[in-house]
Amino acid sequence: MPNSIIIKNKIKKFEKKINVSGDKSISIRWVLFSSIANGISKAKNLLISQDVLAGIRAIKKLGIKSRFKDGKVSIYGKGIEGYKYKKNLTINAENSGTLGRLLLGLLINSKHPIKLIGDKSLSKRDFKRVTDPLSKFGANFKLTKNKNLPLKIKGASNLRCIKYNEKKGSAQCKSSVIFGAMRSVGTTYIKARKSRDHTELLCRYLKLPITIKKKRNYDEIKVNKIRSIKPINYNIPSDISSAAFFIVLTVLSNNSKLTIKNVNVNPSRTGIITILKRMGANIKLENQRSYKGEKISDIKVKGGKTLKSINCPSKFNSGAIDEFLIIFLVAAKANGVSYFKNLDELNQKESPRLKWGEYILNQMGVKTVCTNDTLKIHGNPELDLNKKITIKNYLKDHRVFMTSVIAALSFGGEWFIHDKDSIKTSFPDFLRILKQLKK
Ligand code: S3P
Repeated sequence: MPNSIIIKNKIKKFEKKINVSGDKSISIRWVLFSSIANGISKAKNLLISQDVLAGIRAIKKLGIKSRFKDGKVSIYGKGIEGYKYKKNLTINAENSGTLGRLLLGLLINSKHPIKLIGDKSLSKRDFKRVTDPLSKFGANFKLTKNKNLPLKIKGASNLRCIKYNEKKGSAQCKSSVIFGAMRSVGTTYIKARKSRDHTELLCRYLKLPITIKKKRNYDEIKVNKIRSIKPINYNIPSDISSAAFFIVLTVLSNNSKLTIKNVNVNPSRTGIITILKRMGANIKLENQRSYKGEKISDIKVKGGKTLKSINCPSKFNSGAIDEFLIIFLVAAKANGVSYFKNLDELNQKESPRLKWGEYILNQMGVKTVCTNDTLKIHGNPELDLNKKITIKNYLKDHRVFMTSVIAALSFGGEWFIHDKDSIKTSFPDFLRILKQLKK
């Protein structure tokens, strides 16, 4: 089958330096901010994946041009009021929750109804979480089954500021409301549970009227209406969520060594490093520096250390929210029983990931106990597979595919993994980089 992959052998010891692709969260935010900037914004190392390209196609529908040349992408912003709202517009966010939800925040001033659609996976996901607060600004929404795509948005011209309490720890909800607030008269107050803060950092870098107070368990954010945004030239750092697959492959491989260059290590994203270090992994951040408010570093990993189980504190959840599938593989090899809790948000992703995490582990013969929001994993440091495993029908969730590949290369067995194309959404270079480690 052309769109599946068969893996029959574990990876051999490797010692390499690699680069992974640009950060997806920052790439999508750069596209959206640039689309409302006054003038030409340029990015290097933009992630060229389906999620980001869907963003470029979305802004094109709103009259904003872009150009790809010599590895750089330029976006020709026309200012904060620069979108052209044609009649009967349909925008397709494809597989991307980040794109669909953030973009809605910018569309709350649309002059005509816009239809927002997505692929099969995105159409199962909850959009009420953003349309509820966005409707308080004055925009109107009609959703399928009250919470899903396709939805219709009709904006308003007299948008008013709101008070919003973000309780899920969702950066997508928080960012969508920040975008809405940038279009609305007055000061919007947001109390947000901790989540990735790339939107806030970009606002700060652009000197937009936003203030952020970091409290212990939440952030207080105030946003005022903005008049203009300057263009943003951005050299996008590598994505820790893509690096995560190679970090774990190294952690699980005896005596291998890996350096991953120029990775975004924003503290709101490094949960995986904190968790794996607690489990005994040897991971170091070297050559740390700052860039436009973000932190960047090389990540050095040495494999083969004895791994301990973890009772994972929920405070690490938001910083590792996209990495749990791959972290579960480390728990499968750790000495003892690991416990992960308060992870209901994991079942809200491209696929119900808590369930898929358990499914992959069970296929591997690992004992688990799973509820709606917890997973217990009985680790086995000697785990070595000698069986056939097929992974399919997982809503083409890119992270299910990549996690299965890393499991096959780490634990052996004969794996048939369907829907290889799923990696195109976030990390089209995944298999090519993997080949570099095998050379
Ligand atoms: C993202 C936020 C997270 C994350 C997603 C990207 C973002 O989603 O899972 O992959 O770029 O803001 P939630 O905000 O729903 O937690």
